[in-house]
Amino acid sequence: MNRDVIIACDFPDRETTLSFLDRFSGHRKPFVKIGMELFYGAGPDIVREIKARGHRIFLDLKLHDIPNTVKKAMRVLSALDVDMVNVHAAGTVAMMEAALEGLTRPDGSRPLLIAVTQLTSTSEEVLHQQLLVGASMNDTIAAYAANARRAGLDGVVCSPLESTLVKGACGQDFLTVTPGIRFADAAADDQVRITTPARARELCSDFIVVGRPITAAADPCAAYQRCLEEFVQ
Ligand code: C5P
Repeated sequence: MNRDVIIACDFPDRETTLSFLDRFSGHRKPFVKIGMELFYGAGPDIVREIKARGHRIFLDLKLHDIPNTVKKAMRVLSALDVDMVNVHAAGTVAMMEAALEGLTRPDGSRPLLIAVTQLTSTSEEVLHQQLLVGASMNDTIAAYAANARRAGLDGVVCSPLESTLVKGACGQDFLTVTPGIRFADAAADDQVRITTPARARELCSDFIVVGRPITAAADPCAAYQRCLEEFVQ
């Protein structure tokens, strides 16, 4: 799998998103992430429209429901021709297997399927006291990633700092998709555990997900190019 930079298009509507993507015409078409806000606001047509412009799409909807419901929802998402989708590993191995089945098209092709292990917004204290998980955060992440691998998924979303842990538990070919990226000379915003694109590469991330360092930059194309130079080339 080739390393790539995914731009998190965390915009509220179609117009803002498309005018942002217009800036990249004439450049390499970025791989983009569409999350809940844009998908629920603009509907599935936004996926078709961005796809028709030639972008690869990570549809970040983090499904978590009973296996049959997830399977049927994944069938719909697969028909949208996205390139990557995700589920919560907490939904169980049976749910992840059902997701994979729903995603697989009649010709055997399918989008990449990755799992969220524990959200980076969940602290170790909350893991123990609210989710009643007795294991440590690292053991939980490694075990959830191993469940995802057992179910046949392609990888997980995690902090770049957890990439080595996940690859140790699941193998080097198991993909890590990592947000929490900031340039060395930039603000952290609300992210806590951050690394630079260059460090994420050293830590063996396969994809970095970058939002505000690109979307809020004075020159988004230049910021995207900087990510490519640090992470891909
Ligand atoms: O703007 P920023 O670079 O912080 O955006 C990161 C993107 O990755 C956002 O869309 C955020 O929701 C997503 N994300 C994250 N941490 C996770 C999972 C997803 O920051 N653990």
